[in-house]
Amino acid sequence: MTRVGIHDISLATGQHVLDLDELAAFNGTDPAKYHVGLGLDQMSVLAPDEDVVTLAASAALPLIREHGTDGIRTLLVATESGVDESKSVGVWVHRLLGLPAGCRTVELKQACYSATAGLQAALGIVARNPGERVLLIATDVARYDLDSSAEPTQGAGAVAMLVSAEPGLLTIEPVTGVRTADVDDFWRPVDRSTALVDGRLSVSAYVDALTGAWDDFAERGGVPVEQIDRWCYHQPFTRMSVKAHQRLGRHVDAPLAAEDLDDASRYNRRLGNCYTASLYAGLASLLDHDDDLAGRRVALFSYGSGSVGELFTGVVEPGYRSAERALRHAKTLDERKPVDVGRYRELHRAAVHTSDVDIDIPVASGTPFRFAGVRGGARQYVAAEHLAE
Ligand code: COA
Repeated sequence: MTRVGIHDISLATGQHVLDLDELAAFNGTDPAKYHVGLGLDQMSVLAPDEDVVTLAASAALPLIREHGTDGIRTLLVATESGVDESKSVGVWVHRLLGLPAGCRTVELKQACYSATAGLQAALGIVARNPGERVLLIATDVARYDLDSSAEPTQGAGAVAMLVSAEPGLLTIEPVTGVRTADVDDFWRPVDRSTALVDGRLSVSAYVDALTGAWDDFAERGGVPVEQIDRWCYHQPFTRMSVKAHQRLGRHVDAPLAAEDLDDASRYNRRLGNCYTASLYAGLASLLDHDDDLAGRRVALFSYGSGSVGELFTGVVEPGYRSAERALRHAKTLDERKPVDVGRYRELHRAAVHTSDVDIDIPVASGTPFRFAGVRGGARQYVAAEHLAE
């Protein structure tokens, strides 16, 4: 059988960063609640000329530069913060990246889960046509109301993955455990720019989805827990993955420890929540920080409120280490420009645009791709001059 999986991975995030110590000082919270209780240190904040389209294209650019576009006949973009109810984020990304016209492009949605549906679809496409590659991008901006209890769990990020036969990073194994249950734990009605959430219910719904997906995985012949070497979870806040991991340990009667998750949460502590991209930012973090992964089996748990969970495994390929990739990701996080709480609140309020009025968005970020404004109701995206040449 053809080996299929993730050939390469790339992370992008917003141009700004808010240190959660500053948010804690502003709203009179003990900073330990954020650092320890939620397991978050910072959140990425977007400049006015960034959104999920520019993040997605920026995440994928290094993959296109390194691996070219040959054989990419499918572009899947997963997001729950899309910018149009009809046109998919991927169509703009397709143009910005110069992908071949012979390409199917679609957007997927189911809260933070849909990138995993995209991955499973991509694996199927590649298994059937091993000469093809699929570009899969998870891209999101987590936005809650200012001054809400969910506010410190905002963030932004995109993760692009090239899915292929004979993958260079992670061969995905065929057994997968899935679970769907109708729960109102988190949702965003079409007339709102921020999500509504029942935080406590979302935590218990996440854990229920994990144990349910694990049981399905086990019933379908998934490997026993002792044969899993590393764990990677969806991380709306990194402490959520610790809670879930310990709960799964009790469920399967295995000693699953919080320290197991340290390497897979290093980026997420600094990004904040990035919804569909969160699990895969965790995977990038694990691959960039753990130097003993070759041949190891990683379990990945994907959760999207509402709710859908999926647990699956992959085996890490021997050549997975890349100093260049790790350096690029470190720079992406380190080079964000800090904002204070006042500026963050301005950016939060200014992030929503009506399509009724034409606007020009001045250059703000210096990123490879920009949201340039609205013309005749349509959003405009441009590549930086050096890319457009
Ligand atoms: N030092 C250390 N820890 C502290 C603390 C302090 N000074 N103060 C509070 N904490 C801990 C709490 O004990 C709690 O940990 P626990 O759950 O292990 O007991 C944690 O910090 C959070 O405190 P809590 O009072 O529950 O926070 P909250 O009511 O402000 O809400 C969320 C937390 C996650 C519910 C809220 O941020 C939210 O709704 N987020 C969005 C939804 C989400 O991400 N859901 C996840 C599943 S998808």
